[in-house]
Amino acid sequence: MTSTGLPESLIATLPGSSYTDPEIFAQEQEHIFEAMWFCAVRSADLAAPGAFRTVEVGRESILITRARDNSVRAFLNVCRHRGAKLCTAETGEVKRAFQCPYHAWTYDLTGKLVAAPNLTKMPDVSRTEYGLAAVATREWLGYVWVCLAADPPPFDEVVGDVVARLGDTESIEHYDIDNLEVGARIVYDVKANWKLIVENFMECYHCATIHPELTEVLPEFADGYAAQYYVGHGAEFGSEIKGFTVDGSEGLDRIPGVTEDQDRRYYAITVRPQVFINLVPDHVIFHRMYPVAADRTIVECDWLYLKHVVESGKDVSRSVELFDRVNRQDFDACERCQPAMSSRLYAKGGVLVPSEHHIGEFHAFVQERLGVGRPQ
Ligand code: FES
Ligand SMILES: [Fe+2]
Repeated sequence: MTSTGLPESLIATLPGSSYTDPEIFAQEQEHIFEAMWFCAVRSADLAAPGAFRTVEVGRESILITRARDNSVRAFLNVCRHRGAKLCTAETGEVKRAFQCPYHAWTYDLTGKLVAAPNLTKMPDVSRTEYGLAAVATREWLGYVWVCLAADPPPFDEVVGDVVARLGDTESIEHYDIDNLEVGARIVYDVKANWKLIVENFMECYHCATIHPELTEVLPEFADGYAAQYYVGHGAEFGSEIKGFTVDGSEGLDRIPGVTEDQDRRYYAITVRPQVFINLVPDHVIFHRMYPVAADRTIVECDWLYLKHVVESGKDVSRSVELFDRVNRQDFDACERCQPAMSSRLYAKGGVLVPSEHHIGEFHAFVQERLGVGRPQ
C-alpha cells in the first residue's frame, strides 16, 4: 500500500467531478483551451482569400480567414459595435469583407473597419481600433493553430509534445503533412468529456478488447502496451499485413520522405491539449477535438494522403474504414464511461494499471493548468 491507500500497481485517476462539473469545465476552457495553442482548421480549407471558417475555441467563437496577401487571419467573431455574432455560418466565402447582419458595420479581410452607416460623419472613430479583435495564429503541419492568450506561450510547447513522443522534429517532417491532402473527413459528436477521449487515446490496455481490426494489423497492440509509452517506438505491422487498412490489404503510395525505419509502422502522438496525430507510411490521421461541454466533445478527423492519390480518385476507403472503426470503438467506450463519472462509486475516481500509469502525467498537466494539487 502507498500513502494514497492504493496497491503499488495502481494509481488514482482524477475524481468523477472532473468529468462532469460545469465549473471545472469552465476553468479548463479558460486555463487550457483559451490559454494554449489550439489547432483550429486545416489551412487548405481556407483555399482562397475570403474563404472562412468559424470554430469554437474555449468559450469564444473565432472567425478564421485568408487575407488578400494569402496570410491567415483569426479574429474574435464579435462585432465591435453592439456585439452581434459576425458570421453565423460554420464555413463559407466572402468577396472582400465581412458585413455585420445587424447594423452593417463592415470589416475587410485584415479586420479593419471599412464601412458603416454614417461612418464618414464620425471622423474620430479609428478604423483599426474599432476593427475586429485579432487572435494570434501559427501554421504548422498544414493546420492553423490559434491562441487566445494576450501573451501566447512559445509555439515550442506544441512542437515539444511531438519531440517528446518521437525523439526529434525530423521524424514527423518525413511525412510532409503540410502538403498532404484531405482524402476523407469525419466529424464525430461524442457524448463524453474531452479528457476521457485523451486518456483513451493514450493507452492500449483496451486494444485487445475493443479493436479487433487494429490488433490484427498491429499484433503488438494485443498485449496492451501503449505505443506512446516508449519514445520513438512505432508499432510494427503484422508480417502478413500489406497496408494500414481494415482488412490488411494493400495501402496507397508511400509518402516519399518516410524512412525504412518508419515503414510498416504506426506512430500515435498526443499533442496537448486537443490533437492526436497518427502516422503510417501512406497516410496521416489527424484528430482535432472541440470540447463543447463537460459531457460533449466534437472530434473532427482528417485522413491525409499524397496529393496525387486524392486527385486521381484512388480508392482510400479501406484505409479510412480502419480508423473510422477504431474511432467509433473508442468513442463508444468513452460514452460508456461518461455517465458513470457521476456515480457515487467514482467520487474519488478510478485507477490506472501500470501500462496506463503515463496517463497520470496528463492528469498532472490538467491539475497544474488549473492551479490545483493532486488530490491525496
Ligand atoms: S452589432 Fe454589428 S453593426 Fe451593430
Ligand atoms: Fe483505442
